[in-house]
Amino acid sequence: MAHTLLPQELIRLKRDGGEISAEEMTAFVQGIADERISDAQIGAFTMAVFLNGMSREEVVALTTATRDSGQVMQWDLPGPIVDKHSTGGVGDLVSLVLGPWVAACGAFVPMISGRGLGHTGGTLDKLESIPGYNPYPSPARFGEVVKSTGVAIIGQTGNLAPADKRLYGVRDVTATVESIPLITASILGKKLASGLDALVMDVKVGSGAFMPTPEKSRELAKSIANVATQAGTPTTALLTDMSQPLAPCAGNAVEIVETLALLRGERSDSRVMQVTRELAVEMLIAGKLVAGREEALVKLEYALASGAAADVFARMVRELGGPADFIERPAHYLATAPVIHAVYPEQSGTVQRIDTRAVGMSVVELGGGRLRNDARVDHRVGFSDIAEIGAHVDSQRPLARVHAQSEDAAARAAAQLRAAVTLGEAPATADTLLQDTFRGDA
Ligand code: URA
Repeated sequence: MAHTLLPQELIRLKRDGGEISAEEMTAFVQGIADERISDAQIGAFTMAVFLNGMSREEVVALTTATRDSGQVMQWDLPGPIVDKHSTGGVGDLVSLVLGPWVAACGAFVPMISGRGLGHTGGTLDKLESIPGYNPYPSPARFGEVVKSTGVAIIGQTGNLAPADKRLYGVRDVTATVESIPLITASILGKKLASGLDALVMDVKVGSGAFMPTPEKSRELAKSIANVATQAGTPTTALLTDMSQPLAPCAGNAVEIVETLALLRGERSDSRVMQVTRELAVEMLIAGKLVAGREEALVKLEYALASGAAADVFARMVRELGGPADFIERPAHYLATAPVIHAVYPEQSGTVQRIDTRAVGMSVVELGGGRLRNDARVDHRVGFSDIAEIGAHVDSQRPLARVHAQSEDAAARAAAQLRAAVTLGEAPATADTLLQDTFRGDA
């Protein structure tokens, strides 16, 4: 580091409101990846950024340095490499439908997904409801599956963006997670390491969103679209509603059941399909597979109606170790919870609001997510048939069905669900599903 600042000098510069050059940032992030920089220095740096913010150029530099701190995948495929990322939600099974759907339209989707975090569900946990599904294939096998089926949804491997692993670990224990520049670089550093031609981002807003206010969600959406685009990957961010579970179910196996129904073309106008369709349209346009929205919609409807999207999902499952006849006989393979009950409201009424975070935490407590990092997930549990905002519920029409390990767990979850749902007499309508679109302005 002969020509670069000492780490303490770079931290001092940021602490005093100065601007770090791209070259200095690259050297610092490389020092994080190869452990020349200590945890204390990372903590001081992230706090300085938390307090003073970063210019767009600094965030781009932190993002590209994070991306380049490990392996960056290279592809040689006869179509565009596209992907989607979401800030996470409840009943958010979008990736499971979207990946196969756009692959059936000619895109290639090397999707690196995560596990449940806090109150949000994880795509990998959902896929592991399928016996035999292996989300950690070798890099060579990952490449083969993307090439042969168009999509592979797998977990993060060791050598992608290793600098973020350290940065995030320190942020988590130094009260520096909630910083838009750091969140932007963390999400994109990992995502862009998978060698994408274009990215679509789904930023959630509402009671189940990761960001605490609509303004912060909006700020993050803009930041991600602009920074990724300036870093060389054209990116569009959609701001979508998470003020109630997106699909009418939340859990792992229950969301796989819903995914199969959606891939068969059922409930094509449901809220989750509307969001998935909007993201798919953006991916096909960004991947230059269509000239515009109308052509994208026609292509997407054909891929669903012809069974091509469902077929891609089936092939992905089979190629990654799942049963060859999974989509023909899901009930044979998906374990069901020992206790399944309808949850009725204490009084009749119309659903006005849902504390979506609380619904997600209730799924975690049922065993469908993790309270500790090393905990095992029970894929059988969760909620299904969740009543939407505006629905009337009474002693005949339940709030949901709970899937639990025991009667006690079911009773606790039922009480939590009743507390999470506000009923009233007035008619109620859901918030607008697609609230805004931000195209990166490199
Ligand atoms: N998800 C990430 O990957 N990083 C963050 O900083 C926040 C959410």
